[in-house]
Amino acid sequence: MPNYLLLAATAENVLQDVSTLHPVSPPADSIRYLFYFVTAVGAGILAVVWGVLLYSLVKFRRKRSIGWRGGDEQQPAYPGVVTAEPPQVYGSMPIEIAWTVAPGIIVLMLSLVIVRTELEVRIKQPSPLQGSNALTATVIGHQWWWEYIIEQNGGQNVNPVVTANELHVPVSGEGTEGAPTRPVYLTLKSADVCHSFWVPRLAGKTDLIPGRVNQMWFQTTQPGLYVGQCAEYCGAQHANMLLRVYIDTPENFAAWLANEQKPAVSDPAVRAGQQVFLAQSCVNCHTIRGTTAKGKFGPDLTHLASRATFAGGMLGLNQENLEKWIIDPQKMKPECLMPAFGLSVRNVGLITDYLMTLK
Ligand code: CUA
Repeated sequence: MPNYLLLAATAENVLQDVSTLHPVSPPADSIRYLFYFVTAVGAGILAVVWGVLLYSLVKFRRKRSIGWRGGDEQQPAYPGVVTAEPPQVYGSMPIEIAWTVAPGIIVLMLSLVIVRTELEVRIKQPSPLQGSNALTATVIGHQWWWEYIIEQNGGQNVNPVVTANELHVPVSGEGTEGAPTRPVYLTLKSADVCHSFWVPRLAGKTDLIPGRVNQMWFQTTQPGLYVGQCAEYCGAQHANMLLRVYIDTPENFAAWLANEQKPAVSDPAVRAGQQVFLAQSCVNCHTIRGTTAKGKFGPDLTHLASRATFAGGMLGLNQENLEKWIIDPQKMKPECLMPAFGLSVRNVGLITDYLMTLK
C-alpha cells in the first residue's frame, strides 16, 4: 500500500512508502506495536478525563441562565434552582489514593512495554558470527552521503566491499521452508558530524556519532527497494542525504556481491577518459579499485555505474547529470565538499564516458 507521501525522491521518480505503520522487519514491527499501544493508552486516558469533565459540566451546570439573584441553599431565590456552591471536599483519602495509584500503574505498564521493545530493537550482533547467516556491514555517515563497507556474509569474511549511498542486502527466508534467516547487522560511525540512519520500514532511527560506535539490525522477507533519509540535522545538505536499501533475492544479492568484490572494469574504449581521471585531482578523494585512484575522502567509484543514483541519492545516475555534476557540483548540491575543477568540456565528456562504464 504505497500511500504516504514521501521524503525520499528517487531516480525513478516513484514515490516510495516510508510509513512506520507499514513495517517489513521485526524492529520496525515492534516500534509500530509500541506506537499503537501508547496511542491506545493515551486515548483511553483522554476519554476518561474528557468524560468526567463533560459529565461534570453538564451535571453541575447552573440550571438555566437566569443568573445570580441572591438566596442560598436554604432559601433559593427561585424554587428548584440551586444558586449556592456545591459542597466543598478537602482531603479525601480514597480520592488521593486513586489518583496516585492509577497513574503509577499506567506509567509502570508503559515502562515495561518500552523496555521490552528496546530489547527487541537493540539486538546486539552475535560474536563470533560463524554458523550464522548474518550479513554485517559498517555504515559511515559523511557530509552528505553514506559509505557502506560489507564485511561478512553468511558468517564468512568477504573481501571488504566499499560502496556508497545504495546498500544491497539479501532477503531473509524466515517462514519459508529451507531458506535461511538472514539478519543484517550494521555498525554505524561518522566521519564528521552526527547523522542518523532511518529507513522507517526496516528499523527505527540509529544515530551515527563521531567517536562512537552504534549498532542496529533488521531482516525482512520482502524483497524490494526501501528508502529513508538522514534523520539528524547535519548541515546544509542534510535533506539530500538519502538512504536506499535494496533487499535482493539470494541470486541477485550473490551477483551484486560478486561484482562489487571485483576491481573496476577497464574498458579500452574509454582509456582516454580513464587517463584524464587519473591525471586529475579526482584521485585525491575517490577510489577506483584496480587503478591508482585511492582517495578515501569521497565515495568509492569502483562500481559507480551499477548504482541508480549519486550525490547522496539526490540525482539519478545518467550521463547528463554526471556531466553537470563534474562541471560544477556546487550548482547541483550547494556546499557539498566537491569543488568545480574548471575542466574543459572535452575532459568532462571523457571522464563521464569512463565513469559510466564502471558497472
Ligand atoms: Cu546526515 Cu543529516
